Amino acid sequence: MKKPLSIPKFKAMKTQSAPIAVLTAYDYPSARLAEEAGVDVILVGDSLGNVVLGYDTTLPVTLDDMIYHTRAVVRGAPHTLVVTDMPFATYRLGPESTLRHAARIMREGGAHAVKMEGGADLAEEIRRLTASGIPVLGHLGLTPQSVHQIGGYRVQGKTKEEADRLIADAKALEEAGVFGIVLELVVEPVAAAVTEAVSVPTIGIGAGRGCDGQVIVFHDLLKYGSDIRDKRFVQPYADLGATIRDAIARYVGDVKERSFPQEKHVFTMQSQPEQPSGSDSLYGGGSR
Ligand code: KIV
Repeated sequence: MKKPLSIPKFKAMKTQSAPIAVLTAYDYPSARLAEEAGVDVILVGDSLGNVVLGYDTTLPVTLDDMIYHTRAVVRGAPHTLVVTDMPFATYRLGPESTLRHAARIMREGGAHAVKMEGGADLAEEIRRLTASGIPVLGHLGLTPQSVHQIGGYRVQGKTKEEADRLIADAKALEEAGVFGIVLELVVEPVAAAVTEAVSVPTIGIGAGRGCDGQVIVFHDLLKYGSDIRDKRFVQPYADLGATIRDAIARYVGDVKERSFPQEKHVFTMQSQPEQPSGSDSLYGGGSR
């Protein structure tokens, strides 16, 4: 039976120049499909707030939300490395409280690691977690939990000062013990320079071709969700939104026209002589 990718093997992928494919997932079926399709890592991102719970930002997402969804993901993908986002402000109240919250994500949710947004300012928290056996994935560039401070979802690393700060933060995260760093919405040459500057893998989203791996949001990849805006850095591989909307519209039409259910969908009484054996099974054919 396949085992989840270990943290040492994840790190080794950088030295082996093996690209790392990461996908977000938030529930049992999405995780199961991601595992079956062969992703290296599943991220239970707090993008949950936007794409599943319908919030405008990730800020309202709670620790209990993340734990609840992580449990479903782990049930769906028991053989995949699962990393869960620590939600807004749950790792900014001091290292002891950060440890308590991360431990809940691991113990109650079943995640293998946690992710935190921020740079050198998180060094103490990262040291506390890694010393307690909790692997930490860093996250630099656009950090959506700071959207109000940043002033919008804008591309990072455009000036020399921003580029220097990103590289310094990445080195500080590495020094503190992260096993990898997500780079979100960073200009391509700066993301490549960060990747060059650290020995842990970088995982890009809107950060170009120089990263060691890529991550994408499940709903963006599949165009699943009616209010997904077209994002330049996303490559949709399917249009599930259109497929699902069309299927539901056909179902509604069939109900309205009374063409569903049909004869093959109904159950009959035992006394009727023509009933074939097993036809009272919910699944048809009597095989399950
Ligand atoms: O929350 C999330 O899905 C993320 C990815 C976009 C990296 O942090």
